[in-house]
Parts: sequence; C-alpha cells; structure tokens
Amino acid sequence: MDLFLYLIYFILFSVSLNEQSTPPKVFRTSLMGENMAVMCGASGNKFLFSNEDKLVTSWWPNLIKKILYFPSLLNDASTRDLTKPHRALLQFLKQYVEIMDLMAHKHIDMDWAPNKKVKVYLLSKKYTFALSCRLFLKIEDSEWVARISNDFDHIMAGFISLPIDIPGTTFNRAIKAKNILHKELIEIIKKRKKELTEKRDLAAQDLLSHMLLVPDENGKVLNEMEISTYILGVLLASHETTSTAITFVLKYLSEFPDVYDAVLKEQMEIAKSKGPEEFLNWNDIQNMKHSWNVARESMRLSPPGIGGFREALTDFTYEGFTVPKGWKTHWTVHSTHKNPEYFPDPEKFDPSRFEGEGPVPYTFVPFGGGPHMCHGKEYARLELLVFMYNVVSRFKLEKVVPNEKITYNPSPIPANGLPMRLQPHKM
Ligand code: HEM
Repeated sequence: MDLFLYLIYFILFSVSLNEQSTPPKVFRTSLMGENMAVMCGASGNKFLFSNEDKLVTSWWPNLIKKILYFPSLLNDASTRDLTKPHRALLQFLKQYVEIMDLMAHKHIDMDWAPNKKVKVYLLSKKYTFALSCRLFLKIEDSEWVARISNDFDHIMAGFISLPIDIPGTTFNRAIKAKNILHKELIEIIKKRKKELTEKRDLAAQDLLSHMLLVPDENGKVLNEMEISTYILGVLLASHETTSTAITFVLKYLSEFPDVYDAVLKEQMEIAKSKGPEEFLNWNDIQNMKHSWNVARESMRLSPPGIGGFREALTDFTYEGFTVPKGWKTHWTVHSTHKNPEYFPDPEKFDPSRFEGEGPVPYTFVPFGGGPHMCHGKEYARLELLVFMYNVVSRFKLEKVVPNEKITYNPSPIPANGLPMRLQPHKM
C-alpha cells in the first residue's frame, strides 16, 4: 500500500515539477509508514551525498528487505556490509567488455536479426539478465536463466505490492520466488566452493568465485547466506535498470534521425578500425564519447532509477527544517533532471548538454552520488555502449507504435514493450 502511495507521490511530484519551475528545497511527507523529508534540487542532493555516515546512512524500506534477505539476516547489523560495493564488481570491468560484445553479438544474431520486428523491452531484459548470470555467476545455461528470470519478475512485482503475505498475493509470490532463488544460489555457491577447493581457479573473473576466494577490505570472506543475498541484490539492481536504459536509448535513437546518424558515424569508425573477428575492447569504449552523451541524455529524460533513501543518524537542520533522528530522507532524480534552471528547455532531447563541462554538479544524478552511488555505474556504461554498438552498426530502427504510452513501475516502461521495425544496413 505504501509503495502505491509512493507511486502516486512520484507521479504528482514529476507532474508538479513540469508545471512549476522552482520546486521546494525540502518538504515533509509520509511514505511507507515513515516520516520522510524529501530533499530537492542540486543543494539537497549535495547535502545528502556529502553527509553520508555523518548525518545520514543508507536505508531500505522493510518491504524490500523482506523480499531480499534471509529472515535471519533481517535484523543483523552486519547486513550493512551487504550494501558496500564488492571490489570484484569493479576489478574485472576491462575484461568484461569482450564478453559483453560476444554475448550482445550472439543475442542479436539469434533474437533480432531473423526478425523484421522485435519488442525491444522484452529482448533487452533477456539480454541483460543473461549477461549478469554469465558475469556474476559464470552461468550460461539458457534454460536455467529463463527459469530463474521468471522468479525475478515475481520479486520485482513484489517491490510495488501490498505487503500481505497470504497465498495468492503478489507479495507472497515475491517471498516464494526469493526462497527459490536463495535455494538455487546456495546450491551454486556450495558447488563452486567445492570446485574451487579442488582446483583453485585464481584467475576466475566472475563475481561469485572472487567473493569466495578473496577476502574483503576487512579481511572477511562473506558466508553463504551473505553472498547469496549480495548476489541476489546485484542481480536485481542490474536487471530492470540496465534493460530500461537500453530500451529508452533505442527509443530516442529511433525518434531523432540526426542523433542516430551521429551515433552511427561514431560507431562505424570504431567498427572499421577492427578486424572481422575482433571484439570491442576498453579503448573502443573510451572512444564512444558521443554515444555516451546520447545515453546520458536518455537517462536524464527517462531515468531508470528514481532516487534513494537515507535514515537520519542524528537531529539536523536543513534549510530551516529540522529532521529528527530516525526520520527517513529521500533524494529524487526528478527534482533536477527536468528543472529548467539546470537543463534549459528540459523536455528537448539534446545530447550536447553533456559536452564540455557538462551539467552543473549534483544535477545529473541517474546513479546517485556520494559513498552510496550506484556500484554498477561503470558496468552499466559498458553494457549500454556495447549494446548500442551492436544494434546501431547493424540496423536502422523504426518505432511500430509512434506515440506509445509510457507506464511507470516506478521505472518507465513502454506500454507495448517498444515494438521496433528493423532495417538492416546494406553492406
Ligand atoms: C543504468 C543502470 C543503472 C542505474 C540507472 C542505477 C541507479 C542506481 C541508483 C539511483 C541507486 C541508488 C543510489 C542511492 O541510494 O543513493 C543505485 C544503487 C545501487 N546499484 Fe545501481 N543502477 C544501475 C545499474 C546497476 C548495476 C548494473 C548494478 C550491479 C552490477 C547496480 C548495483 C547497485 C547497487 C549494489 C546499489 C546499492 C548501492 C548502495 O546502497 O551503496 N546498479 N543504482
């Protein structure tokens, strides 16, 4: 119920922002049964991001924790470690580019190229999930991936459900799905542990093997339940977000032919510099500057994540408003991304906003900021650019439903799944 209220608040807030150009700096509301101070604008974002672990700390709604955690971990203080970035997530990024390119290529060959029309949203979800399973768990079994992606859909639906745990409810299905997923993950962890003991594959580049082999900054290797929870968390954090980002960038590319042409030009220069069997590498990604500006402009207008929550560690005052200890706070992308003070003519799709110095600090925040900034930001950048390269270098895109409605869950979703006609380039 509270998340429904959140959705209503979120829609009203986005609408009111479109109508009034100066949002309040802070306002109080009640969300998910909590007193909540909503911080707005660049100064609100800066305040929260730079007072992490001084005035505020990370906070997740109970509903989300119940759907993610083992019951025994729910009230365990050590679960705070599970929101810290694991260095394994960042360590292998450079090597991941080649695997991402190989998998994107195979996916396009199998699911896109044989068709004249595709539903971009569904296929990008399929691709991004298969990629996460490969890179986090080293699993390539497509049947297993398809089976558990079904359970993920139940979990995602649970995040915006009434928290009533009786058979037949969305929340109940989410809890059941969580139990199934943890069971599967624990089995995988045990099996991988055994394999690693028998033959220590120290060069393993997947998140799971690395978490089992290498202690964290505190010299601690997480236990099986903690690893399972962390991996479930990153699988979920990367699932909807990256597929939404891919979907919307392809939507905008199909709507603005001049933007598409500029991206195609950049991508074809990279394609021409490579041999026929040569995959993309880290340097190629660094050369996709214009494409990244296009992706950023797409995330400004249609951000996959809406913001984040914090809890006040102590009483503090912001802009004359006292936030008592224990209150929750919320920052939201919508208070800056479409604010004409920071982004003139905010509804216009204009990637040149990101050229030169780019936006004012703390105004473009699709990944948040400060110590709790999204751990997967770089991973998402690589995934998006590699996928754009693979699509744009092969097809021109045309939307089948010109004015397709966008719904919000609260991430944006094209109501028809963004059906797109594919026109392969003449070679
Ligand atoms: C376009 C894709 C993505 C977007 C827009 C996005 C956005 C966000 C946002 C807004 C937050 C909340 C930050 C806060 O509370 O202040 C977040 C947190 C997080 N994201 Fe992402 N994310 C994306 C992809 C990913 C991927 C691919 C991963 C994993 C590989 C990931 C892992 C995480 C984790 C673990 C957190 C929790 C961070 C913490 O609390 O310390 N995300 N993300």
